[in-house]
Parts: sequence; C-alpha cells; structure tokens
Amino acid sequence: MKTTIKEAKNHIGQEVTIGAWLHNKRSSGKIAFLQLRDGTGFMQGVVVKSEVDEDTFATAKNITQESSLYVTGTITEDNRSDLGYEMQVKSIDIIQEAHDYPITPKNHGTEFLMDHRHLWLRSKKQHAVMKIRNEIIRATYEFFHETGFVKIDPPILTASAPEGTSELFHTKYFDEDAFLSQSGQLYLEAAAMAYGKVFSFGPTFRAEKSKTRRHLIEFWMIEGEMAFYEHADSLEVQEQYVTHVVQSVLKNCELELKILDRDTSKLEKVKTPFPRITYDDAIEYLKEQGFDDIEWGEDFGAPHETAIANHYDLPVFITNYPTKIKPFYMQPNPENEDTVLCADLIAPEGYGEIIGGSERINDLDLLEERIEEHQLDRESYNYYLDLRRYGSVPHSGFGLGLERTVAWISGVEHVRETAPFPRLLNRLYP
Ligand code: 4AD
Ligand code: MG
Repeated sequence: MKTTIKEAKNHIGQEVTIGAWLHNKRSSGKIAFLQLRDGTGFMQGVVVKSEVDEDTFATAKNITQESSLYVTGTITEDNRSDLGYEMQVKSIDIIQEAHDYPITPKNHGTEFLMDHRHLWLRSKKQHAVMKIRNEIIRATYEFFHETGFVKIDPPILTASAPEGTSELFHTKYFDEDAFLSQSGQLYLEAAAMAYGKVFSFGPTFRAEKSKTRRHLIEFWMIEGEMAFYEHADSLEVQEQYVTHVVQSVLKNCELELKILDRDTSKLEKVKTPFPRITYDDAIEYLKEQGFDDIEWGEDFGAPHETAIANHYDLPVFITNYPTKIKPFYMQPNPENEDTVLCADLIAPEGYGEIIGGSERINDLDLLEERIEEHQLDRESYNYYLDLRRYGSVPHSGFGLGLERTVAWISGVEHVRETAPFPRLLNRLYP
C-alpha cells in the first residue's frame, strides 16, 4: 500500500511503500539508518543487513543524498524519535540517483543557501518554517470567516499610492503609468462600504532600499477593514486575530516548533487583551531607558521598538503617533490634533512591528485637504473621495505582515527564511 510519512502513523505494524528522497544517512557494517523525507515529514528508515537481501543492503549503503526512491517496509513505533515511528525497510527502488547535491550536511553561508533557495527549501528547518507559515494562513482564513468577514481581492496593478509615493514600483499599463500595490487598503475601504467587514490577503510591493532582518521587497499582507468600527474596536479585532493565529500554531505545529527549538512558553502567554501605550508615553519611556537621541515627532527605529517590546511579555500596541509621520488617510485624535487614531502592534522578542492600523478620515473636506498637503494626484483618488460623499461612516482597519509574523512565531532571525522565494534588495533569483 502506498502512503506518506505523515499518514504512516495510521499503519503501525503494516507494510507500506512511500515515495521519498534521501535526506541523510548513517551506516555501519550491519545496519543503515536512512533519513527519509517526502514533503509531509521526515522519518527514519532502518535497514538491517541480516533482514534484507544483499542488493538492498548495498543500495542502502550507497544511495546518495537527495536521490528519489520508493521505499517499502513495515512501520514500527519508535518512542525515541519526535515522530514516534520509523520504518523497518525491506526494499528500495531508486527512481533517480542524485549526484553532488550542493547543500551537504556541513554548514553553508547564507548567500550560498539563498542562491540555492529552490533546494534549501527541502531542509528540515525550512520545511518547519513553511509549515508554520501554512498554518498561519489557514488560521487566518478560519478567523476571518468565523467572525463574519468577506474576502475581497484588491487589484495588484493600481493608479494610486496608499502608503506614500517614495516606495512604489512603477510599470507601464499600456500607455498609462501604473504601480504595484503597496496595500489594498483604499480598495478595501470601498469594499467595507459594500460588505461591512472585509479582509484581503495578497502580495504587497515596496521599493524600499532597506536591508534589514525585517524588510522584504515583496511580502504578503492580511488586511481587515470594518465599517462602523472605531479605532478601539479595531484593536480588539487585531488582538483576537493575533491570539487565534498563535494559539493555532501552538496546537497544530507542535513538531515544527520543536524542530525549530522555539521557546513556546513565550507564545503560550499570548492572550487578549494586549497592552497599549501611547506614542507620548513611549517617548518618555525611551528617554528613561537612556535613548537621549529620540525626540517627539520622530519615528521609532528597530532598537526603540525592541526596547518598548522588552518591557512586556505580550505584543504591545503603540497608539496615537504624530500626524506628520503617518500616511494621509488617518483620522485625527480628538484629544490631541497633532496625533492620529492609529496603532502599530510590536511583536515581543525584538521582531518589530507586525501590524499597522488606524481609523480612517471619514470627512470629505478634511480628506481633500490631506490629499493636497501630501501632494497626491487628486484624480486618482476620486473614487476614494466618493466613499466620503455617499454615506460616509466611521471605519477602521489594519494590515498584518505575514512574513514578520512567521518570523516571530517560528523564532527565526531573518524574514528571508519565512518566504519560499524571498525578494530582497539585490535578490531576484531564484
Ligand atoms: O504599516 P504598513 O505600511 O500599513 C499599511 O500598509 C496599511 N495600509 C495597512 C492597513 O491599515 N490596511 O504595513 C503593514 C504591515 C507592517 O506592520 C509589517 O508587518 C508589514 O506590513 N510590512 C512589511 N513586511 C515585510 N517587509 C516590508 N518591507 C514591510 N513593510 C510593511
Ligand atoms: Mg507601519
């Protein structure tokens, strides 16, 4: 019977065949241990010389790394392994013999691994990270669908810039100029006026010349937009969503977190409500912590965010940033008009901002004023202004960066390991 490594747990004591690749092996004169992988997981195959024919043992001893195989044998329990079972191999059919696989078990430099990303994805660590990414995606759809959101897919080719004009990828749209989407927000606002609560999940492009462990040129963003929600209501959705995602990974990716050596005690603490601190208080706190250089009105850098995050066990919302360092569409804070009704959610353990969100301006005159101040091309925002002409309501929304969230939950240092084929400054290959 044909099965997979994952499904083999339902076949203890039975003889099965699994299509697999040889990940690694160890052998002595009498026994060979094959580390097999098949996409669903990693499993040990044990080949005992005295129990197989001569050819099979010779094959087992000589198979090369990443050769593709059909392996047949009996599944037996094995409490020493993370998986809980292994295969007593009876026969091996080689499908294709691989020679000189570039990624050997020794250590390789990051650039080398990135050049071989198409093969690096096969490694145990990368496999675990992608499985966690997959679980976060699954839990995202589950959360939004269970809480009454409608999925809306905003366009990727756009004529307007939601997050400022300096980080746009230009392209030609026949005779017109177009930009790759930086955020679906403006279109989601239109959709929220049609469907109430909406979300999107799609690729986002930022032509930002940042080379940090948190920046990708292309990343995936989950955005929520809710009609009749004020900013405080939106924060509640955000903390519930993030909690749901973390708890789902803890529940469904136990093995992957173990492979990654993730300290799960920190993730277990993630429960609503998350702490909130205003930008003003954050500035005070940073000054107390010895950041003498930071002045009111400046944006926070990674060290500032980390210092604030370290003060808490949970993700923390920094609220009410100065108007002048945020995009044009944010609703002024009625208690201090120099600030806006917004929040960034900062992940624990130095992973930085994972969500940006705000209440949106719903007054037509004010929005027109802001579009002018920001020197945006009014024509291309006409549809956006229509939303304030025809039944404008208070509304709020947010965007969560998938890769930064994967990095935090998996505990990997750099976002480049959280996207299957990351687009980075100076990297478009493979
Ligand atoms: O804070 P940002 O720029 O917010 C927006 O785009 C809003 N329009 C979202 C909304 O309100 N609907 O981006 C949101 C999140 C960030 O918090 C971060 O997690 C992620 O997107 N992000 C990046 N991730 C990887 N690489 C980059 N260069 C990123 N830029 C933003
Ligand atoms: Mg932001």
